[in-house]
Amino acid sequence: MALFSCSSTNAALLLLTFSLIITSNNYVVSGGNYFEDFDISWGEGRGKILENGDFLTLSLDNYSGSGFQSKKEYLFGKIDMQLKLVPGNSAGTVTAFYLSSGGGLKHDEIDFEFLGNVSGEPYTVHTNVYTQGKGDREQQFHLWFDPTTDFHTYSLLWSPQTILFSVDNTPLREFKNLENKGVPFPKNQPMKLYSSIWNADQWATRGGLIKTDWTQAPFIASYRNFNADDACVASGGDAAAYCASAAATKRRSSPWWLSEKLGPRYEAKLRWVQRNYMIYNYCTDAKRFPQGFPVECYNN
Ligand SMILES: *[C@@H]1O[C@H](CO)[C@@H](O)[C@H](O)[C@H]1NC(C)=O
Ligand SMILES: *[C@@H]1O[C@H](CO)[C@@H](O)[C@H](O)[C@H]1NC(C)=O
Repeated sequence: MALFSCSSTNAALLLLTFSLIITSNNYVVSGGNYFEDFDISWGEGRGKILENGDFLTLSLDNYSGSGFQSKKEYLFGKIDMQLKLVPGNSAGTVTAFYLSSGGGLKHDEIDFEFLGNVSGEPYTVHTNVYTQGKGDREQQFHLWFDPTTDFHTYSLLWSPQTILFSVDNTPLREFKNLENKGVPFPKNQPMKLYSSIWNADQWATRGGLIKTDWTQAPFIASYRNFNADDACVASGGDAAAYCASAAATKRRSSPWWLSEKLGPRYEAKLRWVQRNYMIYNYCTDAKRFPQGFPVECYNN
């Protein structure tokens, strides 16, 4: 993974859409089982599945980090994970939670990365979207809570129309499907869910300013209540067509996430986050784009 590197009917429908987004968080508690859903993929014992599969921890020390990946591949849907990030002095550590179609020049990827900080200073939430191998779409945020004292729900909603990053049901970022404007959108390649913790003190601390304090190791991130009940599991050759079709729903009579659109209240929340908590936006970084900003910057 590369790093930096209205009519009343309409109003009722919007309200319904919004309440579906809200209620969808309620069954997070029924969470998946980590033994069934994931493989610890690296880290020689530093990744552990505990409590009969209800709980998972990843650990980083001066020899190695660790990571896990989903057994299944998904194509569209909503994926929730509850995380408690490394507490204390976590500067130099990066914990990532992302969907990726895998290696390859034309890969798609939707990234959440959490950059640790010295005690008492805020984590940075780094987001990016790769389509057909092209990223360079970083947006960064601070959070309105301390992500190290409790579990919080981090969600990726991926539909044929949009990609939505949210935290505790508050949207941070939307990446709309702008294929009609010539921007590729991920919709044909299934993705696995990955998570890992590693040392990035070369870059994560404002260009390596602060080094990881190994006397604080091991650095541990904790996970519970994975939920992909509303995601389409891709299997077989025709996954893209199947997962975009009405037949793909598992638990509802219609796959609500296929037609996901933000309601006005949700859009207001998104603007609130962007106004108050966004600390970096590639779409305003003129130095990076002397030839003009990417097309999606004008339409998102
Ligand atoms: C890693 O940390 C341990 C415990 O602090 C220390 O004994 C060891 O020398 C360190 N190893 C490396 C490669 O820095
Ligand atoms: C660490 O905290 C400082 C001070 O609040 C902030 O400027 C910086 O962006 C934070 N660094 C990371 C990596 O989150």
